[in-house]
Amino acid sequence: MKNIVLLLLVLAAFCPRAAAQTDYVPSEANLEARESFSRDRFGIFIHWGIYSMLGQGEWVMQNKNIDYQEYPRLADGFFPSKFDAGEWVSAIKASGARYITITSRHHDGFSMFKSAASSYNVVDATPFGRDVIGELAAECANQGIKLHLYYSHLDWGRTDFYPRGRTGLGTGRPDGGEWRHYLDFMNTQLTELLTSYGPIGAIWFDGVWDMDARPREDQPQIWNLYEQYELIHSLQPACLVGNNHHLLPFGGEDIQIFERDIPGRNDYGLSGQEISQLPLETCQTMNRSWGYNITDRQYKSSDELIRYLVMTAAKGANLLLNIGPRPDGTLPEEALERLRAIGSWLEANGESIYGTLAGPTGEQSWGVSTRKGDFVYLHVLDSEAGSIQLSLPGKVSAATLLDGTPLRYRQKADSLELQLPEREASCIDLIVKVKLK
Ligand code: GLC
Repeated sequence: MKNIVLLLLVLAAFCPRAAAQTDYVPSEANLEARESFSRDRFGIFIHWGIYSMLGQGEWVMQNKNIDYQEYPRLADGFFPSKFDAGEWVSAIKASGARYITITSRHHDGFSMFKSAASSYNVVDATPFGRDVIGELAAECANQGIKLHLYYSHLDWGRTDFYPRGRTGLGTGRPDGGEWRHYLDFMNTQLTELLTSYGPIGAIWFDGVWDMDARPREDQPQIWNLYEQYELIHSLQPACLVGNNHHLLPFGGEDIQIFERDIPGRNDYGLSGQEISQLPLETCQTMNRSWGYNITDRQYKSSDELIRYLVMTAAKGANLLLNIGPRPDGTLPEEALERLRAIGSWLEANGESIYGTLAGPTGEQSWGVSTRKGDFVYLHVLDSEAGSIQLSLPGKVSAATLLDGTPLRYRQKADSLELQLPEREASCIDLIVKVKLK
């Protein structure tokens, strides 16, 4: 008898959390948060850390094999004299974005928030001494926009991050370390993030792919995902968990993330995974880099970014569009310009984006569609199209432009023919609002 009790205790100690998350049931608050997330459709991503000082993106530590004891010296010189959370949030809000996702700790291991778990953080390790995440959280609350936090599983600097995966192998760390210590450190930091800054809309994990030589089913155990997800949901039930692991989501995750590709496409090579039933989000860069890159001038135009937002919404997904602030704390002028352009476009056309679902037409030669209730929004992206033919899941009772201008249409047995008006050369997306009976 005693042996059986002992056996049960041992079993309980080793597997309960993993089992619990395979039948994860999201709370009411979480389900509501998912719906609200899906209605948002547009967020701004911010990659900022001490790496911005080197101006070569957030992977510089790995790409240049910077020594793990030398890299932290950057912190000694980090003083973003022009950082103003209020200015960031105003500029981002004016773009029509409904949430901000910022790197609280990236793969370089530096925390952009005050942490008792490690003094290698923006308050304790830099002359700046200000809590960037704290100031941003306060300003988001003040201006009424949601805050999501990126958090890296992968760490290129800590000695307890062991065994290693496929990156950060050239930073000169000792060959050995206490993985459980690292997992506990992450739990402590997640607890700090979820108890110090008010409601957090989502925790956005990244870095699991570092051990992608190991099978998908091993990942939750390697990275302790289920325990972390349970911890997050117990601290803030409405906080959404997302993980940029490039795999089909695990139990306990609330959104599915795609990197640099609209769900269903895989041009960049990181999105071969199936599409789940969870709310979707695609993250994308404005130029080619996430973290500040001083030589990267290859910005996508505002028009291109707006069309990308439309295409993403038409797939039923949110767009999380990135900015890499400069080391002085300012947002690059190119980024500000694009925020303004997207904002004025959304102000006029947001009805066809916010709160919509994927449209019924799929991708056509003329463009794509979104849907809200009885309305279908046809986004005609092909500027040459004079009339279009399509089939919809029902009869049409009206077709207009967004400003109410009626359009001529002909309803055939199984299709609809629409006469499009002349469009101005500057028109990025001609939107037709169709009412279904
Ligand atoms: C990749 C990169 C990382 C970046 C992320 C954003 O995972 O490793 O640097 O933060 O994509 O999606």
